[in-house]
Amino acid sequence: MSVIFSGIQPSGNLTLGNYLGALRNFSKVQEGNECYYCVVNQHAITVPQDPKLLHERTRALAAIYIASGLDPEQSTLFVQSEVPEHAMLGWIMTTLSYVGELERMTQYKDKASKRGDSIPAGLLTYPPLMAADILLYQTNFVPVGDDQKQHLEITRDLAQRFNRLYGDVFTIPEIYLGQDGTRVMSLQEPTKKMSKSDDNTTATIYLLDTPKDIEKKIKRAQTDSENSVHYDREKKPGISNLIEILSAVTDQTHEQVEQAYAGKGYGAFKKDVADAVIAVLEPIQQRYEELLKHPDLDDILDKGSAKAHAKASETYEKAVHAMGLYRK
Ligand code: AMP
Ligand code: TRP
Repeated sequence: MSVIFSGIQPSGNLTLGNYLGALRNFSKVQEGNECYYCVVNQHAITVPQDPKLLHERTRALAAIYIASGLDPEQSTLFVQSEVPEHAMLGWIMTTLSYVGELERMTQYKDKASKRGDSIPAGLLTYPPLMAADILLYQTNFVPVGDDQKQHLEITRDLAQRFNRLYGDVFTIPEIYLGQDGTRVMSLQEPTKKMSKSDDNTTATIYLLDTPKDIEKKIKRAQTDSENSVHYDREKKPGISNLIEILSAVTDQTHEQVEQAYAGKGYGAFKKDVADAVIAVLEPIQQRYEELLKHPDLDDILDKGSAKAHAKASETYEKAVHAMGLYRK
């Protein structure tokens, strides 16, 4: 049995990228493992958030977790800010981090470059908080999308640094990447990652998009003029992205998809990609609507916080004792 931990920020509407890169794998690994899935609202506030929206999105994200297959009986679902050890160990991890290594994070560079002279310090110290999230649970595997590789590396470095300085306290975690869908690209600029925060909403499929919108967006997705369904990330990024999406949602290899569309044009292919995506998202949307209204959701999150807190406080105590950060 392994310990699994992952989190998503409640900072916008979830995308097909979040689903294929992260959420889908959360439920795949939950059986037989000890899993913790967190709504990382303290990471969301590294850029300004509207309080009312942040509150609503926190609950909504928890409902999406369950709607996309997480079973609260098997997995512990909780909200980061309700388990204070995350911020507490986050501070300790910050003190172990070097400014240089934090400045090298590509996510930091991307986000900071959009903020002129007023770069929130939390954007820089985001990775030590993420390290704390993961290390508090003595995590073995972290299911995330490809874009989180660098954050996983620094988490491992910080854990090793701590263990070397103060003794073996933390398990060294490993990234868990799925097969396809680890990096879903923008439908309009297929060399760029599909993102919650893209201003161009036609570039992104949201988990809660209507079937009509999904069909429209996929129909308009940027491709090339060859009219041949063939996988080549370099030369045909648009079509390759759609092949990857179809492979992921229908559990096929790229070759199987290529064969099925040999001699067929992009029109028929895009229609099938849209239908396959809709078939996966529609039941999630239905469950989501029911859950959001249901009082069970808060009970689940209350129980989740208590369970997470029990484990997190045990690890935190070990860490502060190892460091001499205690009195009696
Ligand atoms: P975020 O939206 O940054 O909170 O990401 C939550 C999870 O979704 C992380 O595991 C990301 O790696 C994953 N993710 C975000 N965007 C994509 C994408 N375009 N393709 C695959 N995975 C993604
Ligand atoms: N940094 C992750 C993202 O942007 C979110 C995250 C925060 C996370 N803490 C985590 C992911 C711990 C996995 C484990 O997607």
